[in-house]
Amino acid sequence: METAVKHQAPTTQGFVLKVSVVAALGGLLFGYDTAVIAGAIGFLQTKFNLSPAMVGWAASSAIWGCAFGAMFAGYFSDRFGRKKVLLVTAVLFFISSLGASIPTDLTQFVIARFIGGLGIGAASMLSPLYISEIAPAKSRGTLVSLYQLAIVIGINLIYFVNLKIASLGDAAWNVDLGWRYMLGSGVIPAFLFLVLLFLVPESPRWLVKKNRDAEALDTLEKVNGREQALEVMAEIKAALSSETGTVKELFGRGLRMALIVGVVLSLFSQITGINAIIYYAPEIFKSIGFAAESAFFQTVLIGVINTLFTFIAIWLIDRAGRRTLLLWGVTGMIICLLGTGICFYFNITQGPWLLIFILGYIASFASSLGPIPWVIMSEIFPTKTRGIAMSFCTIILWIGVLFITQFTPMLLESIGGAFTFWLFMVNSIILLVFTWMKIPETKQRTLEEIERSWKH
Ligand code: GLC
Repeated sequence: METAVKHQAPTTQGFVLKVSVVAALGGLLFGYDTAVIAGAIGFLQTKFNLSPAMVGWAASSAIWGCAFGAMFAGYFSDRFGRKKVLLVTAVLFFISSLGASIPTDLTQFVIARFIGGLGIGAASMLSPLYISEIAPAKSRGTLVSLYQLAIVIGINLIYFVNLKIASLGDAAWNVDLGWRYMLGSGVIPAFLFLVLLFLVPESPRWLVKKNRDAEALDTLEKVNGREQALEVMAEIKAALSSETGTVKELFGRGLRMALIVGVVLSLFSQITGINAIIYYAPEIFKSIGFAAESAFFQTVLIGVINTLFTFIAIWLIDRAGRRTLLLWGVTGMIICLLGTGICFYFNITQGPWLLIFILGYIASFASSLGPIPWVIMSEIFPTKTRGIAMSFCTIILWIGVLFITQFTPMLLESIGGAFTFWLFMVNSIILLVFTWMKIPETKQRTLEEIERSWKH
């Protein structure tokens, strides 16, 4: 069926782009609010005189919140609507940033960050899900990838905001106030997200599920043009009538495979090591003898490459397709992880090679495994259970984040850099084989076509 794949008028494209950018801001807050801790944690530690265990707790409290946020968001968004729950996440972001900037002890800080985590976890699945449900098939991959771009921009943005704030005063000022401004600065993007969300419509697929056809049609017309809107509507309705909407359906023949694909992609997007580098790069560089300024320079380079290569994914994902991009990208990651491990093993840390391999890894990730799990997760499940199914996959993803955040320092300490990166390489090889054997191409197909293909 060709329904939504036909030509789109420029005005409808403008509308979808605008709506997707607003939803993608959820990703910006995700990046901003997870990475803010990197700049603040040292000062916080001195301020509250924290033991190493307490530092770990202060840093990971938000990530714990993420797992819970992802858990509840699916159910609530199936029940009350995608937009409503996204609005709630914006409020959570706001409260958390404010709360984390004024605590008088660690407990208050942890609670505020946990609340923010609930927002991050929920938005991390709802932003891509919402975009996927509103986007026309032909540009869905590109539009959902905007969300990944926003995550990366959020990470880089707070990185610079933190630096700027830290430079406003001396160490004592930073211990007293600097970190408060860093965390508090999150109220600005949170407020922006909240206001802009009022301008976007509810997801048309969710509206049809709730029998609010007139409203759904209105949005579908803005997205697909008048003629095609009716066709898309009919297709959504037909698909919905064949869904049971029960969780059991997800474990039945056919869709079970979709669930496995979603879970594997979520988990492996983490256990192939991206955040070991994103979160720990400065420490890793310093540990092998780089001066602080050059460690900082390398970290900036990582951010720049991560951003630039996300554009490659945006450009290629609907052309080359998800599967092809993933196969190439993961192969690139494997080669670069092998190289990184070799550099560590033979102590080749001073020449350009280590940096080349690490940047190559980031480039390969950014153009494939960065955005693709979010894209595929948001498109492979049936409308009635998309929320719950995506919740499930996203919880696994956040558990992966927790795992890597927790264990990377220990791995580096116990088995060393070489074997840590080779471990990530082995995981990447497993992912490559899985992708080759099990992941279908979903580019240019409507969500309803994808759904039918599992059931056959
Ligand atoms: C992806 C990952 C996230 C990571 C980011 C880095 O969105 O899911 O964990 O921090 O990419 O670019």
